[in-house]
Order: sequence, then C-alpha cells, then structure tokens
Amino acid sequence: MSSENIAISILVTGANGQLASEIRAIADNFPLYQFLFTSREDLPIENKEAVKLFFENHPINYCINCAAYTAVDKAESEKGKAFLINADAVGELATICKDHQTQFIHISTDYVYDGTKEIALKEEDTVAPLNVYGLSKLKGEELALDKNPSSLIIRTSWVYSSFGNNFVKTMLRLFKERDEINVVSDQMGSPTYAADLANVIMQFIERMEKGETFSGIVNYCNDGITNWYEFAEAIKHFVNGNCKINPILTSAYKTPAKRPLNSVLDTSKIKKLIQAEIPYWKDSLKKCIEKLMS
Ligand SMILES: NC(=O)c1ccc[n+]([C@@H]2O[C@H](COP(=O)([O-])OP(=O)(O)OC[C@H]3O[C@@H](n4cnc5c(N)ncnc54)[C@H](OP(=O)(O)O)[C@@H]3O)[C@@H](O)[C@H]2O)c1
Repeated sequence: MSSENIAISILVTGANGQLASEIRAIADNFPLYQFLFTSREDLPIENKEAVKLFFENHPINYCINCAAYTAVDKAESEKGKAFLINADAVGELATICKDHQTQFIHISTDYVYDGTKEIALKEEDTVAPLNVYGLSKLKGEELALDKNPSSLIIRTSWVYSSFGNNFVKTMLRLFKERDEINVVSDQMGSPTYAADLANVIMQFIERMEKGETFSGIVNYCNDGITNWYEFAEAIKHFVNGNCKINPILTSAYKTPAKRPLNSVLDTSKIKKLIQAEIPYWKDSLKKCIEKLMS
C-alpha cells in the first residue's frame, strides 16, 4: 500500500514493553492503519516538549499509551519517578491528544483498588491504592480524564506475554533453577494475556473508526478467577514441570509494596460495550506457553 493511502495513524508508546510488543505483533493485520511505535529512548513520555514536537510532526489519530513505570516494589522508594511517568506525563499526553483531536487510550491497573471487597471489582467501585505504583496510576487516570474527558482508560490486571518480563517467565525460569518454590495463595485475581488485551484495544479502534465513541474507565482481564499459587501450578502443568510449589500466605512473603488481596476485575461492562468474547485465562496461558516453547 502506498503511503498516500494511509489515513489513520496510531502512536504506541512504551514500544519495548509487553503490551506494545503484542500490538506490534498484530499490526500487520491492520493494513489500513499506520503504526508508530516509540520506545522510552525515542520518546520519553515525561518530556513534554519532545511529545509536543512529535505530535506536531506526525498526524496521530489514536495514541495508545503503553509506557509506564511498572516496577511495583521499586516505586516505594522512587515515588517521584513513578508519579512523573504514571501521572504527570499521562496528564500531559492526554492534554496534547486533546489539542490534536487524537483519541487517547490509556492503560491502568487493578492496583487502584485496595482489594477489601470480596466480589469482582467494578469500574465505579471505590478506589484506594495500597502502594505508590497504584497511587501514581490512579493519579494518571484522574489527570487524563480531567484534562481530556474523551480519554478511554482500560484497567487491567496480572499482565503476561511472551515478550518482556512477567510472572509466567519468572516461573519458567524458577522451575529450571529450583526443586521447590513458595508462591502466595491468598491474593485472588485474573491474569491477562497481553495479546488478548492488544486485540481488545484494536477492537475499540475499529469501532471508533465506524463512528462509535468510547470514553471513561473500562476493565479488562481474562475470564476466570485464580490466585498466584494456582497460576503457577497451571504454568507447571502446561510445561510438565516437576518443581514442587508450596502455597504460602501473603503475610509470609514480605514485599516493599503491599498488594490487594482481591484483584478480580468485573468485565461485564466491556462485554456489553464491544461484545468482547473474553478467553478463559487457562486457554490464553496455554497459547502463550506454546508460543514461548515453539
Ligand atoms: N504488567 C502488569 O502486570 C500490569 C498490570 C496491570 C496494569 N498494567 C499496565 O499495563 C500497561 C502496559 O504494561 P506492560 O506490562 O506492557 O509494561 P512493561 O512491559 O513494563 O512496559 C512498559 C514500557 O514503558 C516503557 N517506559 C518506561 N518509562 C517510560 C518513559 N518515561 N517514556 C516512555 N516509555 C517508558 C518501558 O521502557 P523500558 O523497556 O526502557 O523500561 C517499557 O518498555 C501499563 O500502563 C501498566 O501500568 C500492567
């Protein structure tokens, strides 16, 4: 296709991360869109002048912000950096998108909740982050919607992929290195295969291209509920591992950042909004592991 035919351009920030890599992996399925992937080196999102200049030099129809400070434990001692990237930069990006009539699509987290509610968490449920990362992401949501009410914010949880670093890859490494490991069993949640999330984001864009509008906060994670111990057991099952996994309580596994005990996201809103068929978490996990093993 010649460049004159390309009408729709999509900026994907944080290009080397899990989610952006999964978007890149499906980009060829969308030949009518021109994707611009920018890494931290290409476009540090906290550099307001660089971001402004980028938007002045490139017409952008959609900005998918996959860039984030995601080191949950480290954030406890790097509060300024976490807020700069996850909050201030997000507010600026949302503003710049508004100025350029660009649809802003931002990703947030289950860690905006405190996890005390015992059933799945709805978008409108009370938010009360337990850690600096969650606080910085919540501030990012607030700034985005304040500066640019058309922003679409997708809250997701327990993200993994064949790209980047994540729980699945850590488990696969530990299964090789150790005979026995301990994994917490009292934090409930739903894993999210970043490839599924990438597809859902593109479904939103396809629908927006057909004239639908979406804004505000919407939850997305894979179907089904598990805990980290069961998640580890499922990974072990798919690789026929023989490492012994011991379930332990959060109280026995000290980390700098506190985690919510219940992170299960209610996805009924997204199912209704875009008739999203959400894969069951074990089915997606199997796909990811097959990809990693191939
Ligand atoms: N991972 C999870 O379990 C999880 C759970 C819930 C929500 N989320 C949210 O989902 C989104 C995508 O997460 P992910 O798992 O794909 O994260 P990821 O793999 O950690 O990727 C984030 C990317 O952002 C880049 N980045 C960091 N600071 C930047 C900056 N100042 N400017 C530009 N890029 C920058 C990183 O660059 P480097 O590669 O150079 O570090 C990295 O490539 C994030 O908003 C995250 O908060 C993630």
